[in-house]
Amino acid sequence: MASTFDIAQARSRFPALKQDQVFLDNAGGSQVLDSIIDSLHAYLSRTNVQLGATYNVAKSCNAAYDEAYRAAAKFINASPDEISVGVSTTQLLHNLSTALDFQPGDELILSKLNHEANISPWVRIAQRLGLMVKWWSAVDNVNPVCDVEELKSLLSEKTRLVTCPHAPNITGTITRVKEIADVVHSFPRALLCVDGVALAPHRQVDVKALDVDFYAFSWYKVYGPHIAQLYASSRIHSQISPLGHYFKGTETLDLRLNLASTNYELAQTIPRILEYFGSDVASAWEQIATYEEKLQGILLQYLNSNERITVYGEPSASKERRVPVISFTVKGMKSQAVVEEVERRSQFGFRNGHMYSHRLVKEVLGLEDVDDGVVRVSMLHYNTEDEIKGLVKVLEEIIVPN
Ligand SMILES: Cc1ncc(COP(=O)(O)O)c(C=O)c1O
Repeated sequence: MASTFDIAQARSRFPALKQDQVFLDNAGGSQVLDSIIDSLHAYLSRTNVQLGATYNVAKSCNAAYDEAYRAAAKFINASPDEISVGVSTTQLLHNLSTALDFQPGDELILSKLNHEANISPWVRIAQRLGLMVKWWSAVDNVNPVCDVEELKSLLSEKTRLVTCPHAPNITGTITRVKEIADVVHSFPRALLCVDGVALAPHRQVDVKALDVDFYAFSWYKVYGPHIAQLYASSRIHSQISPLGHYFKGTETLDLRLNLASTNYELAQTIPRILEYFGSDVASAWEQIATYEEKLQGILLQYLNSNERITVYGEPSASKERRVPVISFTVKGMKSQAVVEEVERRSQFGFRNGHMYSHRLVKEVLGLEDVDDGVVRVSMLHYNTEDEIKGLVKVLEEIIVPN
């Protein structure tokens, strides 16, 4: 990436953007870098053998796999033995839930602001082991946050696990994870599991600085293919009972949690995603955050000015406080009708619903028709200011103020 953000250059790296479609469902999945597509073709053409052998092509396969784990780790400032790459965040958290050691009497504290991926594995294991689940809800039903004071009232010596999103995939509000980690770790056996799926496409993640125990996110939202990764701090690996065959090693998280092989051809694309950020990674992320702040500012200014519209989550466009995942409802209109009206008039592509954050939409925001849910517009740094201004114009036509 250049020293100042170059939108034309960024867009030129995503072949899908050449179509007559404006992609605004990026929290559902991003478009894919050109280098990922090329790398898949090259790998399957030349390197597609089984891992671990010593003949020449196998050596290339082994090297690509090792490079993938090094890149996956580097992306979040972890070590390769602290990473497991898998099919999806949902699958990885299920694996973790069945492997993490629990004792009778342990308690789990689950944020209702989570996507169901960071809830259902824990509810299931709690039911199976007869453990107590405590719900960490929010007082504000329009701008709900993972509140530290509220968490403090739930924590105790019995707490084994706390789960929360780094940013909910409905509100886009950034959770103060480090502050939460400090509070959680003041209890001896308590661990923190963070879902970073909605944040990772927008901000540089440093799991060491955040001091989390577990951190998961999905590469198909970060310009890559359909795979995901889980981080678990090496300091707690001994608390994860290996799922692998009895004769396999247990030295890495992947050996402990991965049931068979990772999807090699997809995993080996991960280094290509890191290359996209260039040599000054911190500056590239800063440029992205600053640019996205501009985009979200354009949309929020309009949404906040129309009295028929309720925006959920952080109302300001501050890049410190939110990422460009913006959800709203319109008084007197179904969310689905808003999407359909936009689609009738334009090429803007986004969606409505609960986006699998069912408890957040139903129990925290309190929406009666949870399937109709919210309208969600989720931007990425490859969207242009003109696109968002164009969307505002279409919304203005559809949502006439009272
Ligand atoms: C915040 C959040 N967490 C978890 C997931 C689940 O990710 P995956 O599809 O990789 O299981 C999603 C998917 O949309 C999400 O938005």
